[in-house]
Amino acid sequence: AIDITKLRAETGFVTLDSGYMNTGACTSAITFLDGEVGILKYRGYSIEEIAEKSSFLESSYLVFYGKLPTAAELKAFEERIASFDDVPEGIKTQIKAFPKDAHPMAVLSSNMVSLSAFYHDLCAQDLTPAQKDTAIAQLMGQLKVVAAYAYRHSQGKEFVKSDKSLDYCSDFIHMMTGDKNVNKDVAKALDILLILHVDHEQNCSTSSVRMVGSSKANIFATISAGVDALWGPLHGGANQAVLEMLEEIKQSGKGYEAFLAEVKDKNSNSRLMGFGHRVYKNFDPRAKIIKVACDKVLTTLGVKDPLLDIAKGLEEVALKDEYFVSRKLYPNVDFYSGIIYRALGIPTNMFTVMFAMGRLPGWMAQWKEMVEQPGFKICRPRQIYTGDTKNTYKDIKSR
Ligand code: ACO
Repeated sequence: AIDITKLRAETGFVTLDSGYMNTGACTSAITFLDGEVGILKYRGYSIEEIAEKSSFLESSYLVFYGKLPTAAELKAFEERIASFDDVPEGIKTQIKAFPKDAHPMAVLSSNMVSLSAFYHDLCAQDLTPAQKDTAIAQLMGQLKVVAAYAYRHSQGKEFVKSDKSLDYCSDFIHMMTGDKNVNKDVAKALDILLILHVDHEQNCSTSSVRMVGSSKANIFATISAGVDALWGPLHGGANQAVLEMLEEIKQSGKGYEAFLAEVKDKNSNSRLMGFGHRVYKNFDPRAKIIKVACDKVLTTLGVKDPLLDIAKGLEEVALKDEYFVSRKLYPNVDFYSGIIYRALGIPTNMFTVMFAMGRLPGWMAQWKEMVEQPGFKICRPRQIYTGDTKNTYKDIKSR
């Protein structure tokens, strides 16, 4: 590796890497990703094994603390998160003040940053280890609460109080539906989806979290930045966009080839949503797991969704198409996730909120790792200036 700091000091040289195609901004021991082969590991454990054997809260513990918890540690962690079972009245009032058709990501982002108005001790410039543990558990608990409340508000319904006797995913579904009798298969499927989203190294939202957190902005503002970056359709917002795309294909009755011709046309400004990835130039291992889970969930729940057939048909045709093959464009995590959310009864505009819920542990783990790293610095990229340099100020009347 070249020591850029030394090189710049000696030569004034600045590297230009638009979109950070090949710029490492940090070292990290959380997630390993080999995009050429399609490998993803959390703390050295393969995503396939974690998805099969672990739980969302256990894998969250793993990314935060770098090891699998003992039974006692996991129980304490789960109980601590469950203890944050509500939000201040001011946050509830804020949710109720939004129009019912507000996008839940707008509500989530506002709520996250607003929490900083209520928990001043957690807004300190440098948190103690105990405060960091509190922040982690509190945000894990409260993000679930505001996500469910935002949904209830959008439906014009009263908030449903969290029930500590339920596991994390069952409680979230209960808080959305008002029914404590949550189908175990539904809760398990949601848990697997959340596991698959836990961390994905320096993606756009995680990099935003690191960027904002590097100024020592408080943890709530930092996480809110992650929510904002995630919302875009090229990132986490793709799961909603995929469903809308599949719906459009269904409604229009367009053939797969005809639809793909549109996304291949560079003038169309459209893309095959849920396909392609900056790092994976092979199958996204999460997409493989989700596709299998999707079939299983729909069969178990007895759901027949025509959108699943459309997705499979589209994938089959795209994977044989020279355009997608030559560019190494494969389905990513968002291609099938929406179909599962839909089968679980989660509405389309909540999909990206579900992604945020799953990604929160990754954001917090990456933030924790960054602030604990010796010599940690504010993130501050350089630029190549291309504007004017010799303008002189003209009085407004003479312009
Ligand atoms: N549909 C059609 N063409 C595509 C797609 C797509 N989904 N993705 C990439 N391409 C094409 C580009 O047009 C470009 O073609 P060109 O070489 O002829 O100009 C080539 O493939 C390379 O694409 P880039 O945009 O340079 O790739 P980049 O790494 O910058 O983008 C991204 C990655 C944003 C994920 C892109 O593939 C995309 O827009 N996909 C659709 C949105 C999506 O599913 N996002 C979710 C990503 S996963 C996640 O964030 C959780």
